[in-house]
Order: sequence, then C-alpha cells, then structure tokens
Amino acid sequence: MTDRFRGKVAIVTGASAGIGRAVALALAAEGARVVVNALDPVGLEKLGTEADLVAVVGDTAEEDTADRLVAAALDTGGRVDLLVNNAGVHRSVPTAEFSSAEWRRVIDINLNGYFYLARAAGAVMIRQRAGVILNVASTAGVAAALNSAAYVASKHGVVGLTKALAVDWARYGIRVNALGPGLTTTGMVQAFAESAPDLYAARERRVPLGRAASPEEQAATALFLLSDESAYTSGQILVVDGGGAALYSGYEAPAQER
Ligand SMILES: NC(=O)c1ccc[n+]([C@@H]2O[C@H](COP(=O)([O-])OP(=O)(O)OC[C@H]3O[C@@H](n4cnc5c(N)ncnc54)[C@H](O)[C@@H]3O)[C@@H](O)[C@H]2O)c1
Repeated sequence: MTDRFRGKVAIVTGASAGIGRAVALALAAEGARVVVNALDPVGLEKLGTEADLVAVVGDTAEEDTADRLVAAALDTGGRVDLLVNNAGVHRSVPTAEFSSAEWRRVIDINLNGYFYLARAAGAVMIRQRAGVILNVASTAGVAAALNSAAYVASKHGVVGLTKALAVDWARYGIRVNALGPGLTTTGMVQAFAESAPDLYAARERRVPLGRAASPEEQAATALFLLSDESAYTSGQILVVDGGGAALYSGYEAPAQER
C-alpha cells in the first residue's frame, strides 16, 4: 500500500456501491480525504463505517448537488484535487418503447450530472491551476450494447465530454480521462445476471479473460488515472474489459484453459 494521494481532497459520486465504493475506499486507503455521494443514504452510512469519509446524499442529476459536493470538499480541505464522476444508471428497454421521461432520466444522471460536477469542480481546479477528473464511462461509450440506446448515447457523450474538457483545461494543468469498464460484478450487473442467467453466462464467455471484473480491479485502473503516474495522460478512455473490445464481434472468445 502506498500513500499516493496523501494531502489530496477527492469527490466520488455513486460511492455507496460497486465501482464508486471501491474507488472511494482505495483513495481513502492511500491517504486522500474523500467526499462521497450517492442517492442512497443507507449505503453511504454503511460506507462511513469502513473509512473516514464525508458523505453528501443527493441526486447528481440536480445542479445543486454539484455545488453541495464542491462546498463539502472545500470545507474538508480547502481544495478539490480529484473528481470521480461515477454515478450512473442503466435501463434496458427496446428502443421503440423508450419513454421520453426514462430517456431524459438516463441522460440527466449519466451525462448532464457529469457536466454539472465537472463545471463546479473545474472552477476550483482552474483557480488552483491543478486537478484531475476521471469520468467513469463504459465499453458502451465506444460501441453499442443491445436495448440500451439512452445508456449508449450517454456514455458516448461522456467520452466526448472527457475529450472536450481535456482540451479546454489542459492550459490550467488539469487532466481529464475516462475509464471504460466492461462487465463488472456490481449491483448493476447482478440484476442482469439474475433476470437473464443464460444471457449473462454467454456474455461472460465472450470476454477473452473469461470472467467479469471485480470493482476493485476497476478501482486499481481508476487510481492509476488519478495519480501522478499518469501525469502525461489526458483526453483518453482506458477500456478495462478483459480484452473484450479487442475481439472482433463476429468471433467467440476461445475457451479458458486454466
Ligand atoms: N458494472 C458494470 O458492469 C459497468 C460497466 C460499465 C460501466 N459501468 C459504470 O460504472 C459506474 C458505476 O456503476 P456500478 O456498476 O458500480 O453501479 P451500481 O449500481 O453498483 O452503483 C451505482 C451507484 O450510483 C449511485 N447513483 C445512481 N443514481 C444516482 C444519482 N442520480 N445520484 C447519485 N448517485 C446515484 C447509486 O446510489 C450507487 O452508489 C456507472 O457509471 C456505470 O455506468 C458499470
């Protein structure tokens, strides 16, 4: 264990579960003071028993939540060094049946919320002339997934936002990257595995490494992108999908031999 983030103040959204939770705990374990957010107060309270974190319950689709998170970070350490935009939702609906309300809700959380918080935290980072933003996108930010039009559009939007911010804010010493998780064992995927076990098993078989990632494996790459080890990396999406995106879609992954 290192202390790569000692003295840093971080904000992590969607931290009560899954990838956000793993990122928040890993940052805290490596010395950061972390402001964590989620919609779900019970999950955040439980997280608070595992590490010394500052919890802010709120919907990231609301602009006011972004202001409250930045205010909490400034109260905590007078700075915002690291922002992890992670809170996200997936809706699986045949596209012709997508209601406008559901469409807007997915875009509001997965894309607009990322912008609101990047803008609020970015204003502080610009004054500091330093900061790192990590947007959690998805493999759905670089290719389509079935019956997920709003999710795919939102995640492609996140990749575009990442590139735009990286270019706009490089002059202030701010780096902006995206993480592109593939199938990862979180609540979001649990629901899919339980409702369609055959489909889930087939999906897992298509991963060249033969399995889904753990949230901790995603967090390890997230921390690399947040740390000075990636000091010259900006405007990138790092896809962490067990080799899935490298496999042309017409092919099955070879069977595991271990
Ligand atoms: N699990 C995967 O396979 C996978 C794959 C690719 C990308 N991702 C992305 O990773 C991120 C985290 O997903 P996960 O799998 O850990 O999900 P999860 O469902 O386990 O956790 C989601 C978290 O986001 C929070 N959240 C949801 N809506 C919110 C809102 N409006 N405001 C504030 N918090 C909200 C929840 O409270 C929870 O803490 C998402 O952006 C998701 O799209 C996940």
